[in-house]
Amino acid sequence: MDTPSLAAPPLIHAARAQRTQTPAGPRSLRAPPAEFLHTPVLVEEVLHFLAPRPGGVYIDATVGTGGHAQYVLEAMGPQGLLVGIDRDPYALEVASRRLAPFGERVKLLRGDFAALCALAQQAGAVPADGVLMDLGVSSMQLSQPERGFSFQEEGPLDMRMDPSQGETAADLVNRLPESQLADLLRRYGQEPFARRIARAIVRHRPLRTTTELAELVCRAVPKRAWPRRVHVATRTFQALRIATNRELEALEQALRQVPEVLRPGGRVVVVAFHSLEDQLVKRAFRSDPRLRPLTRKPVRPSVEEVRRNPRARSARLRAAERVEVL
Ligand SMILES: C[S@@+](CC[C@H](N)C(=O)[O-])C[C@H]1O[C@@H](n2cnc3c(N)ncnc32)[C@H](O)[C@@H]1O
Repeated sequence: MDTPSLAAPPLIHAARAQRTQTPAGPRSLRAPPAEFLHTPVLVEEVLHFLAPRPGGVYIDATVGTGGHAQYVLEAMGPQGLLVGIDRDPYALEVASRRLAPFGERVKLLRGDFAALCALAQQAGAVPADGVLMDLGVSSMQLSQPERGFSFQEEGPLDMRMDPSQGETAADLVNRLPESQLADLLRRYGQEPFARRIARAIVRHRPLRTTTELAELVCRAVPKRAWPRRVHVATRTFQALRIATNRELEALEQALRQVPEVLRPGGRVVVVAFHSLEDQLVKRAFRSDPRLRPLTRKPVRPSVEEVRRNPRARSARLRAAERVEVL
């Protein structure tokens, strides 16, 4: 696995970001307007477990468009620091606008949370009172066809959260041997038709667009086996996104570093969206003697929240507290 770059990423004060930040990436790509703002999930539950204290120091390791971050800042009162990390420069651009009213109380960093310790130290946020991770993809990323995360609209098969990162999803599907593709779809997508889909991909490559892939999955999976509530290509897209962004490796690395950045009594809250992530979180919280789990079972959204925000459907939250080890 590649070691994440520890070269100092740009540190952005939210108040200045509007003027100074120009994200690296294709010129045609612009951060979308405010109506694409991501609706944060499990907000009350996040605040309950994170329990932001006045004047505290909090790290939002997946700041996205700043939804949770705004609530944490408001809960802290007029003082305290929030460090927001994201590997997506377009998300940071939106977050910097949204969090600008909090001025110097917000520091935004572009980086991979796999380097959590180094990023937190660079921002002067160690020891921290809390770390929040709201995993997966944001509504903003899904709403930009040019990013290639969604099968709903045609776009290049990209899926990189950080557009300066190496391989795209298209590179992966066009490069991997059939057996490795099937393995990837099974492991990261729990896709029962992994072999058929992998075979169809190899037969029809090179694939270039999201809709080419989605249509190919539709043809590869027998209609009687299509899931009732989600698109038949959902699992394939999830698997490729996880592999393209090395999401599980990054999560494992970040979880190992959480106890290093928290002060005793500090809290970590993780919102996961599928069982692979949730199992890593559960194991990390149970196996590290410096962490005391605060949730025996994952906390799920209410029926009312899922009705309001269908993306919350698969969210599951776990929290833990940093304890002193003698
Ligand atoms: C579900 S969204 C977070 C939304 C945010 N909580 C809000 O309320 O706006 C997840 C974000 O995490 C970012 N992300 C995913 N993996 C990451 C990683 N390894 N390092 C840094 N950011 C990551 C994505 O780019 C995305 O913006």
